[in-house]
Amino acid sequence: MDKYVINGGRELHGEVVIGGAKNAAVAIIPAVVLAESPCRIENVPNISDVTLIANILQGLGATVKNVNKTTLEIDPTTIFTQVANYEQVKGMRASYYLLGALLGKYGKAEVAMPGGCNFGVRPVDLHIKAFEALGAKHTLKNGVIRVEAEKLVGNKIYLDVVSVGATMNAMLAAVKAEGYTEIENAAKEPHIVDLANFLNSMGANIKGAGTDTIKIRGVRTLHGTTYSIIPDQIEAGTYMVAAAATGGDVVVSNVIPRHLEVISAKLREMGVTVDEYDEAVRIISHGRLKKCTIKTQPHPGFPTDMQPQFSALLATARGISIVNENVWENRFQYVSELARLGAKISVEGKSAFIEGVDHLDAAPVKATDLRAGAAMLIAGLCARGTTEIENIGYIERGYENIVEKLRNLGADITKKRTMTTTEVVMA
Ligand code: UD1
Repeated sequence: MDKYVINGGRELHGEVVIGGAKNAAVAIIPAVVLAESPCRIENVPNISDVTLIANILQGLGATVKNVNKTTLEIDPTTIFTQVANYEQVKGMRASYYLLGALLGKYGKAEVAMPGGCNFGVRPVDLHIKAFEALGAKHTLKNGVIRVEAEKLVGNKIYLDVVSVGATMNAMLAAVKAEGYTEIENAAKEPHIVDLANFLNSMGANIKGAGTDTIKIRGVRTLHGTTYSIIPDQIEAGTYMVAAAATGGDVVVSNVIPRHLEVISAKLREMGVTVDEYDEAVRIISHGRLKKCTIKTQPHPGFPTDMQPQFSALLATARGISIVNENVWENRFQYVSELARLGAKISVEGKSAFIEGVDHLDAAPVKATDLRAGAAMLIAGLCARGTTEIENIGYIERGYENIVEKLRNLGADITKKRTMTTTEVVMA
């Protein structure tokens, strides 16, 4: 099992260049299925979730070519099946976008219930509700969801809970449906807008993405396109917090500062200087930071995917901070790991109470999910001594070249490869 080994206590300095947004990429890549000719996708993040979704598409018959490190060319015209089995999709939550994309293109899809990060019950009832509103029928048997429609017809879709996945899947299924679809109570995250822009560049007619109501007029065909994915808001936010936590001075570039406003606002509240440029933010942090209150909400609220990283930051802030998790029901699993480093955190229901300590001390910890893993990295960068982080596969699902990027900022971090029992026997 591979580990990250961090000698903590070094300030981060310099510039880090942010990659393409994971949560946009894992929707845009399956959306290529809808096109009648090849698509070229640029600014693709170099992360294992992208490799997984690209492999799944290849399994369906699509031709996927790595043009360079950040560009994929995908030809969907060679797809021969609409079935993605459990072995293919088990590592990845976002494989559910294949349901909407395949249904939208071929009128049918069969996808095993996905895996991915485990932070509570992750239902897909609203995705199914959206498909059914458009005229599809579904069955769920042996962990496999099958959706089918003779014809998809536009309709009003009301999402009872603001859901990123259901909004994206509804768009994918509706984009070629006959007539007019309106998605109400839609999610407004930057990656929702990015998917809509991508589909529009293929000839779709989607308006209102980024607001509560998305309006889609179905079109008969979608063509191939060249499209560049937006920068990753959460990767950027993670480096901003890492800079703040280590008392550093870091320029986070290739970002859209507007997408980072809520993160910047919270950092400023804590006493960090955040300067904004056209495509960069600079984080300057000195001295011990102040407590703050965090309440996660769908966009434009504070992103739940930044919650664990902020808890790591607040662990050494002056005073008692409160972190309120309102999106996921089980997103405090990492708290016991932070406690191993000396953090004082108690959890009651949806809230974590963080009593800032003077400093953290190194200990072996594990990533319990992707963003929890990022929190361990931030804590390890600050802690006195050598922290080892296990389960780093979670982190590599969503952070490209993270060791290299942190080392360029002056962090003392290495990836230690541990041989498996079989490898030891073979050696
Ligand atoms: C996406 C992100 C994830 C992020 C989350 C919220 C991807 C690949 N993942 O996940 O990193 O934490 O948005 O910003 O983009 N819900 C239902 N029924 C459904 C679907 C969702 O009740 O059919 C509920 C969920 O239980 C949760 C809430 O809606 O409480 C939000 O979930 P959703 O926005 O759908 O999250 P994902 O799209 O899975």
